[in-house]
Amino acid sequence: MKYFIGNWKMFGVPKSINILNKINLFYSKDANRNKYKIIITPPYTLIETFSKHFKNKKILIGSQNCYQKDKFSSNTGAVSSHMIRSVGAKYTLVGHSDNRAEGDTDLMLKNKIKFALKNNLKVVFCIGENKNDKKNKRTFSIIRKQLTKVLEKKFNQKNIIIAYEPIWSIGTGKLPTRAELDSTTTYIKSILKKIFRKNIPPVLYGGSVDDISINFFKDIRLINGFLIGGASKSSKKFIDIIKNYYR
Ligand code: PGA
Repeated sequence: MKYFIGNWKMFGVPKSINILNKINLFYSKDANRNKYKIIITPPYTLIETFSKHFKNKKILIGSQNCYQKDKFSSNTGAVSSHMIRSVGAKYTLVGHSDNRAEGDTDLMLKNKIKFALKNNLKVVFCIGENKNDKKNKRTFSIIRKQLTKVLEKKFNQKNIIIAYEPIWSIGTGKLPTRAELDSTTTYIKSILKKIFRKNIPPVLYGGSVDDISINFFKDIRLINGFLIGGASKSSKKFIDIIKNYYR
């Protein structure tokens, strides 16, 4: 199973559902549709409307983040997994570099995952090195820390997906080389094997994936799907990513 996840970030108002209606129309007729899942993570404000609208359809809705406490608490502005699940979302991103930059620590991420799983959300856990780490050849050690300090053997790995997103590639048009992607993905899978032993989670790639760059990524068979930012705001680009992937 492959995953095409669209991360809308701070984008979208109720009428933006038209973008998803177009994607859904394509999906419902696509001969390859059983080979992949489409998940869209709109902002919190749209989760309920979108989840209801696509309830019996194939597009799945997720949140972009969740709070590190269970259920309800007195944290202004916070939204818990319990609340996210109650309005129909099935997935949540955790640890996106945007949120790490705003202060998410390993302990916070661990708790976010713990409560997301408890509340029946599937977790897309984002990891990746920054430009400086890459320059100083610290990619593997950063990734190892990000995975081992947060993931626990007792987490149900069947409800976890890993998204490898090198920060230097997000929104920049810069792509890793084939050799880099092969070796990093293999490394991530080896660490996951150490943590979980079997049924290791799928590993996605994210960072400047669009309708053109997908032609490069599609040959790297170790990658189980894509986390798509900018290009997921256009129904045409998002559909072309899938079309080109299976061409
Ligand atoms: P991008 O973003 O596709 O615009 O590079 C990816 C992400 O931040 O998830």
